[in-house]
Amino acid sequence: MLFALTLAVTIALSAALREPLRRWPWAFYALAAAAVLVLLAVPQQALPKEASLAMLPLVKKGYVATALFVIVMFVGALPRGGRADRWMRPVRAQLSIVACILIAGHVIGYLASYLPRLTSGAISGTAVYLGLAAAVVLTALTAVLGVTSLQRVKRAMAPGTWKRVQRLAYLFTALLYVHALLMLLPPALSGGAAAQESAAAYTAVFAAYLVARLARAWADRSRDARTAEEAAPDGDAQALGA
Ligand code: HEM
Repeated sequence: MLFALTLAVTIALSAALREPLRRWPWAFYALAAAAVLVLLAVPQQALPKEASLAMLPLVKKGYVATALFVIVMFVGALPRGGRADRWMRPVRAQLSIVACILIAGHVIGYLASYLPRLTSGAISGTAVYLGLAAAVVLTALTAVLGVTSLQRVKRAMAPGTWKRVQRLAYLFTALLYVHALLMLLPPALSGGAAAQESAAAYTAVFAAYLVARLARAWADRSRDARTAEEAAPDGDAQALGA
């Protein structure tokens, strides 16, 4: 339930803060970096109890970063030119960069505890090994997509290359779901209610994204076919199978 709540609040804040995010993205990048530093550098006992309790799911477990990645994915599946698309598309790159900074807290936080266990063979169960293998590829994709979201880098790249790189976002999305589910499977199968709820929430969100993205692809294709038909002089109607 906590992830669903985090997603709802993150959607509301992203829409409400769209203008400051567009004008002063660096302030949001610095805020995200500060949250990661607090998670990694400040002993949790030194933090007020509420802050330390909030840091675990929101930053360490990656809830806010994952919610931002979900928003970035859905902006790409919204009807083109629609109100939500026009409102959110201009800050899609900035949201993605904030998410990449925040997920660094998750990656470093869990690498610190899982690497020694991995090297000492103290990890049990195939699901966790597969989940960590997916995590390595996912982390590399996060870095590539994050860096190419920076305006300066985008401008320096050939548009065709940039577009091809951005298509990796689909592999990223699939691996994010697979990684989260594989890491949650052991506690979920042994009756962990929180893990079961999170797994159900991720499944609902990623299934909704799949449907929205396929619907958008279909709408784009029908629109392109109509445009091609309208552009074709009468004589060619035959050629287009009219
Ligand atoms: C080498 C890098 C990574 C490691 C070692 C790692 C490790 C973990 C671990 C141990 C969990 C289980 C946490 C729990 O008990 O709830 C987990 C869950 C998760 N990871 Fe990662 N992860 C890595 C990279 C990533 C990346 C790059 C992303 C996102 C882009 C990500 C997203 C998630 C999500 C969404 C969950 C589910 C959290 C929950 O609902 O509890 N991870 N990861």
